[in-house]
Amino acid sequence: MNLLTLENVPALQAEVRELARARNAVILAHNYQVPEVQDVADFVGDSLGLSRQAASTDADAIVFCGVHFMAETASILSPDKTVLIPDLEAGCSLADSITADELRKWKAEHPGAVVVMYVNTSAEVKAETDYCCTSSNAVAVVEHIYREHGPDTEILFGPDMWLGAYVEQRTGRRMHVWSGECHVHAGIRPGDIEATRAAHPGADFLIHPECGCSTSVMEYVAAGDVESEGVHMLSTGGMLDYARQARPGDTAIVATETGMLHPLRQAAPDTEFIAANEAATCRFMKMITLPKLRDSLRDLVHEVRVPQDVAGRARLPIERMVAIS
Ligand code: 13P
Ligand code: SF4
Repeated sequence: MNLLTLENVPALQAEVRELARARNAVILAHNYQVPEVQDVADFVGDSLGLSRQAASTDADAIVFCGVHFMAETASILSPDKTVLIPDLEAGCSLADSITADELRKWKAEHPGAVVVMYVNTSAEVKAETDYCCTSSNAVAVVEHIYREHGPDTEILFGPDMWLGAYVEQRTGRRMHVWSGECHVHAGIRPGDIEATRAAHPGADFLIHPECGCSTSVMEYVAAGDVESEGVHMLSTGGMLDYARQARPGDTAIVATETGMLHPLRQAAPDTEFIAANEAATCRFMKMITLPKLRDSLRDLVHEVRVPQDVAGRARLPIERMVAIS
């Protein structure tokens, strides 16, 4: 039974829960996963929240319904656990935008600089990094570095240039920023915000800082063209916090991967959430399906394990990330 039909979803979900119990496995799902996978998970959350769950679980196995770098991070934080991903092909175009060799070359050009890498990177890149961060704590991590190492510290920030621009704007300091981007978020353009804004006057904007529209919206806010009051630059976890505090009847335009609409609508059923761009779907996130999750638990495939020497060097920057909120 590998095909997913509307009819077999409940039966598959029951099978998944039973297998998870039998394997003593915890199922972690990112906010961009398909609804039927989110609904069967033990924890649904953003990259930082899921890393924290992976670090603290006492389950024997972690099944990561997300993309490969997330499963690698879980394995680095919990090296004695079996970490599984239902589809090994679930990669990330942003993580692929910088290699360990490229980072080593960049570091050689800036000796003494502190390296901050978004968690969307390979384990090899993390092994060359001083601090990892996620979208929910990138500003806090960079502020921490300026406090610890001095305000003139040279920082190499990567690989997401939109998140880098957002951090520079919030801290008021320039960094060296790698020019990578997530094709899904970069595809959400200023025109999408203008069109949805015109169709829904008065709606709030929830904007993920990886978006291609984030820099221009910050500029509009600075120029007074967009009311700063309704604009919220948020990680996916921050968007959920917004939903939990929303008032019935509120409307919010959501600029991120469209999978996010499911947890938002569940958290605030009386709030209207509208996608800034309906086409913003991550094909890697959507590779994880209920039948593949079931197979993964049943057959204990596909294991993600990071070589010990790489994991040993990548652990410190990840632990720093997990510790800073
Ligand atoms: P967060 O869940 O940390 O906001 O990350 C978004 C993302 O694009 C993950 O790939
Ligand atoms: Fe990577 Fe973008 Fe997909 Fe997130 S949405 S997993 S950053 S490709």
